[in-house]
Amino acid sequence: MEYRIAVLPGDGIGPEVTEQTLLVLERVGEKFNHSFQFQKLLAGGCAIDATGTPLPEETLEACKNSDAVLLGAVGGPKWDNLPGDKRPEAGLLGLRGGLGLFANLRPAILNKELRDACTLRPDIIGESMDIMVVRELTGGIYFGERGRRSGKMGEEAFDTESYSVGEVERIARLAFEIARKRSKKVTSVDKANVLESSRLWREVVVRVAKDFPDVTLDHMYVDNAAMQLVRNPKQFDVIVTTNMFGDILSDEASMITGSIGMLPSASLGEGEFGMYEPIHGSAPDIAGKDMANPLATILSAAMMLRYTMHLEKEARAVEDAVNKVLEEGYRTGDIMSPGKKLVGTAEIARLVAERI
Ligand code: IPM
Ligand code: MN
Repeated sequence: MEYRIAVLPGDGIGPEVTEQTLLVLERVGEKFNHSFQFQKLLAGGCAIDATGTPLPEETLEACKNSDAVLLGAVGGPKWDNLPGDKRPEAGLLGLRGGLGLFANLRPAILNKELRDACTLRPDIIGESMDIMVVRELTGGIYFGERGRRSGKMGEEAFDTESYSVGEVERIARLAFEIARKRSKKVTSVDKANVLESSRLWREVVVRVAKDFPDVTLDHMYVDNAAMQLVRNPKQFDVIVTTNMFGDILSDEASMITGSIGMLPSASLGEGEFGMYEPIHGSAPDIAGKDMANPLATILSAAMMLRYTMHLEKEARAVEDAVNKVLEEGYRTGDIMSPGKKLVGTAEIARLVAERI
């Protein structure tokens, strides 16, 4: 089969981790007889520098005309002082919104090889860890009304958290469907003791749950969830939550897996199309030094093979190759532990490709 992939390397370590991931995808193509056409496009800070806008029209159009998007990371200190709607991050939000990608799947899986890199005690993490964070991605405070106005104590700024029934329904439904294929348990995270938007969220999730009698649902306030994730993470299977709570809790969950450099993500909408990106940022401090961990991006490509292309065997082959490389003791700096072999971005990716 032939697939068209829009590649948005972005900023900081984005270009190096995507470059290496393309080599891994090429290896998958060779091995399993697929052809991947890569079209590189500008988004984020590099797009601002080249065109004056973080999301050029051409990029959005090309993404719409492709089967899937692979994104590195956007942002960096160079663009930190731009107004909100001109920042690199606005480009990323424009992509998520413009492509209708309302669901963000962030699997936090602790590879047993990386137990030493995990910051929690071995008796708390046990043998393994496998949590799926389902983050709503095109609503809530990220997309609500915002602005400045004058107030009693000087200038005020505001951002609005708002959710509609339809938005909650579709993300809840997806979370229950995912839970059905796992251990049939959903934890919905909200702040229903304070926020009206969370009370609606909870009402809708409870209603959707009626269509999934085989799945257990519980609710947790976000502050408690943040605590429970480090107290007893094994109680979680699928977590479904809002855009901002999901942003925060998925970073927290990533540390349970050893490093934020290990966590992939898939952003999905109604169809097969998806955007795949590591959950980490652009890490400008280590950019261009061949130090970044490309495994989150490589694992994001595996998610692309699985969710957009339905190439389960190929997705597995990539994941198995990553596991193999870790079993053999190769590590980038972020997951390094005593006695292991420290390698750079390109080398670890080459080792993965070689094992496919
Ligand atoms: C993420 C990132 C983004 C977000 C930023 C870069 C806008 O932190 O994908 O988690 O907040 O969604
Ligand atoms: Mn984030």
